[in-house]
Amino acid sequence: MKKRLLLLVAVTILMSACLTVTNMPPTLVPTIAINNSETTDGLSKNATAEPVSLAQETAVPIATLPPTNTLAPSPSATATEEPTSTHRSTPIWTATATLTPTAAIEPTATYWPTVTRQLLPEAISAGLPPCQTRVVDTELLAMVTQQFFLPETYVPPDLVPLSDYFDDSITLGQDLYARQAIIDPLQTIIEAMHEAGLRPSIISAYRSYSEQALAWKWWSGQYPGRVAILSARPGYSEHQLGTTIDFGSPAIDNLFHVDFANTVEGVWLTNNAHLYGFTLSYPANTYGITGIKYEPWHFRYVGVNLATQLFNSGQLLTSWQLENLSPPCIP
Ligand code: DAL
Ligand code: ZN
Repeated sequence: MKKRLLLLVAVTILMSACLTVTNMPPTLVPTIAINNSETTDGLSKNATAEPVSLAQETAVPIATLPPTNTLAPSPSATATEEPTSTHRSTPIWTATATLTPTAAIEPTATYWPTVTRQLLPEAISAGLPPCQTRVVDTELLAMVTQQFFLPETYVPPDLVPLSDYFDDSITLGQDLYARQAIIDPLQTIIEAMHEAGLRPSIISAYRSYSEQALAWKWWSGQYPGRVAILSARPGYSEHQLGTTIDFGSPAIDNLFHVDFANTVEGVWLTNNAHLYGFTLSYPANTYGITGIKYEPWHFRYVGVNLATQLFNSGQLLTSWQLENLSPPCIP
């Protein structure tokens, strides 16, 4: 089964590589403006946007592939971007908020462009396991940043198929999984969105280490210079925890697209997700801290208390973890 899935994914990667803008269905020909500034109001009219959609990827199962925004900033936009002042990034034992990309230095697929890896001070790292062999906290707050990664072998203990709980209008017919631990809140938030007259979908959920590796490879092929801020490398994705959901909207054809923030579903989630325990992991203008560009669709379940605290304070989950949790391993 796993082998068949991998084969399917490999074939679909090849197929998708052959697709061009011209053979996209008409509704997918780039009509969505690129947002270079990461805010949602200064949309550029650049017509070279290359949105990836479910339809374009008829052959590309997005549970395992394009897990991220297809729209990357211009080098100059990334070079000038600063974390906002409402997001604190002052962990006491490491300093990760180093912006390094500049217009002159285009990051490459192998370059770590946004978050500088720091060695842990010896006093702190003493006794810690290397991240490759860390024992992952299966409570809800396991730390996964662009520094502290998950072992290749980590699979959450209680994965369940989302098709047992949601119909195809939500899963878009995909073979998605998440931890049982978040099913209740996920059902509750989706019911609340339906009651508000919205039409949310789940465009990605759990991704294994190897699925994330495929995703990263796919993106590095598409955008070799920008992949590092568009997709987490295998081991570095919150999706491997099984508690992270990418939501979609029919208004943008369920794309992984920054314009999700402007859809009714995106606006509602921005304002209400915390009430259901979900937090936006990668807000706009914070990639200097998180290492990842704005992903208005990517929400991690952390429980109502913490999600609400983060929402009210404006603090990033990444910053909160670095400040409040012990480092889980030696990167
Ligand atoms: N797109 C997010 C960062 C991930 O790959 O987990
Ligand atoms: Zn995501």
